[in-house]
Amino acid sequence: MLILAIETSCDETSAAVVRDGRHILSNIVASQTELHELYGGVVPEIASRRHMELIRTLTSMALTEAGIKKSDIDAVACTTAPGLIGALLVGLSFAKAMAFGFGVPFIPVHHIRGHVAANYLAYPDLEPPFTALVVSGGHSSFLHVTDYTEYKTLGVTLDDAAGECFDKIARVMGLGYPGGPLLDKLAENGNPEAYKLPRTKVEGLDMSFSGLKTSVINIIHNAEQRGEDINAQDLAASFSQAVSDILITRLCAALEMTGENTAVLAGGVAANAWLRRELLQSVDGKNLILPPPALCGDNAAMIGAQGFYEFQKGNVAPLSQNALATCPADMCLC
Ligand code: KG4
Ligand code: ZN
Repeated sequence: MLILAIETSCDETSAAVVRDGRHILSNIVASQTELHELYGGVVPEIASRRHMELIRTLTSMALTEAGIKKSDIDAVACTTAPGLIGALLVGLSFAKAMAFGFGVPFIPVHHIRGHVAANYLAYPDLEPPFTALVVSGGHSSFLHVTDYTEYKTLGVTLDDAAGECFDKIARVMGLGYPGGPLLDKLAENGNPEAYKLPRTKVEGLDMSFSGLKTSVINIIHNAEQRGEDINAQDLAASFSQAVSDILITRLCAALEMTGENTAVLAGGVAANAWLRRELLQSVDGKNLILPPPALCGDNAAMIGAQGFYEFQKGNVAPLSQNALATCPADMCLC
């Protein structure tokens, strides 16, 4: 089955063609980083306008690169929740028009389920059940994935998402946007013990990152006021270690709670080298699935992968389907 997939939930415009949920025939991603850099974060209206400008050309490129004709497409899948509402609506309207034009079913896909499904593209033998940790710029969630379309949220962040925290700290440090990859690089040779940072305690599997973020920002501001220098490498390493500790202790608890043997990582922050290294050292005796860095960030192939399994379950929607800015991964979108 050939699925044309569209992703426009935030600041990446992407179109892909995926075969049977497991094989990428094309995956074109256009990042808008340079447009939002000036503002230090994503400006929703600018993101929506850029999606409008790019979506048609990117989709043509995806079809050409896949080497298929429009008539070969069996269904169109698109992220319809969660995300920036204006940005989502651009992709949704375009995808529904394509489905109508081709006379094929329209499949709405949850963005977080898509991130998890990126792993199906890289690991042909990976199948639910498993425990997943999704960490991105907008989301931080522990999930029990009992089947391809059966999700139970076990814990979420109560304030900032992990990636948001990376981005805000990098901004205060004057590193640029998006901050995650820049802090990741900076941490490489830093000392994680140099700065004492809090590991916020929250009941159960929920998380909180705003206290950690404020601590780091206070260290930077206090040093500025005293005319002292901070050691940026050490601060980046101490922060990366704190984020890893918060996530890994909960992931171990989530594995114990669900009784699963497989842990799956997903989302933009899953590309973080520090977190990946710490996970490999900490999650003993379990099967740890780390997505290839190229499939961690937003891309349409992951939506095509999940779209295949949503279709198998009969989760197709009429063309009146709307977008939702927020929505738990547990919910069926149809
Ligand atoms: O999944 P994603 O592309 O978009 C959302 O769904 O939010 O994630 C983007 C987030 C940004 O906050 C970015 O700074 C972060 O992922 N990120 C990283 C790394 N690469 C991207 N964070 C830490 N280390 C990285 N290497
Ligand atoms: Zn994402």
